[in-house]
Amino acid sequence: MTESYFTFDHVSFRYSDGTEALKDISLSIPRGKKVAILGENGSGKSTFFKLLIGLEKPTSGEICFLSEPLNYRKKQLIRLREQVGFIFQEAENQLFASTVKQDILYGPINLRWPQEKIERNVANAIQLTELYDLTERPIHFLSGGQKKRVTIAGVYAMDPKIYILDEPTSSLDFYFSNQLTTYLNELQNEERTFLYSTHQVNLIYEWAEYFIVFHKGRILYSGQRDALFSDDKLLETAHIEKPWLVQCYENLLKEGLIQVQTTLPRSMKELMSVLKNNTYY
Ligand SMILES: Nc1ncnc2c1ncn2[C@@H]1O[C@H](COP(=O)(O)OP(=O)(O)O)[C@@H](O)[C@H]1O
Ligand SMILES: [Mg+2]
Repeated sequence: MTESYFTFDHVSFRYSDGTEALKDISLSIPRGKKVAILGENGSGKSTFFKLLIGLEKPTSGEICFLSEPLNYRKKQLIRLREQVGFIFQEAENQLFASTVKQDILYGPINLRWPQEKIERNVANAIQLTELYDLTERPIHFLSGGQKKRVTIAGVYAMDPKIYILDEPTSSLDFYFSNQLTTYLNELQNEERTFLYSTHQVNLIYEWAEYFIVFHKGRILYSGQRDALFSDDKLLETAHIEKPWLVQCYENLLKEGLIQVQTTLPRSMKELMSVLKNNTYY
């Protein structure tokens, strides 16, 4: 079985007005991983996602999906998008049915699943996003955060292998932001991959297993948590806030209250056990 869903080989992309949005990107997107996509505004995150799902074609270089070069014929693109659930940065671009329920139904109906499966998945998605009181509401009466929850429900209902979440929590409150990461954790298995772009570093720090940082259209970093969050210069260049937990850990070290650990604490629970026992777990 192929280890990667997508591979980018020296991919560059220029918009029609001449903006060079991506420059010489080479990377692999592994299966079964929770991946954070970080980087300042305009660094190329959304453009990267557009190329992944074939909405835009590279100006040079090649993108492979499951080891096959991405094919831009309509039939193949439909097949690709059956496996990739995409939550756009702007919910407006994604909602087009007249009511909440019809919008969530749209994807599963297009997948031509049996009626029973469609109904089960849609009911489940409505429950997870707590939209039960809004199912018959016209989309244009919803708030920004409610619209975002409808797009998330639409993706849940399609049960994709790959989730692309482009700043999904930018209009969500604290409760729904946490619900999203909690539910993605439950969904994760060795097949499902999540690509999640955000500026909410404190939320993603604990959740993600792999980090990719864009800067001015290039990949500035791709790898594990520790090397990224202990590199102050890199964080500053990429406009990434140092997570509150890492700041806390570094201050405790400086004050001599704890000893250096082999890895950064990933959660409050881990930091507390360092404090209590001077060891993880
Ligand atoms: N449709 C477009 N036409 C021209 N330039 C664009 C378009 N969309 C984005 N860009 C430019 O491409 C670069 C990358 O943008 P984007 O991928 O949206 O970054 P991010 O999602 O990281 O904020 C920016 O310089 C942005 O201004
Ligand atoms: Mg963006």
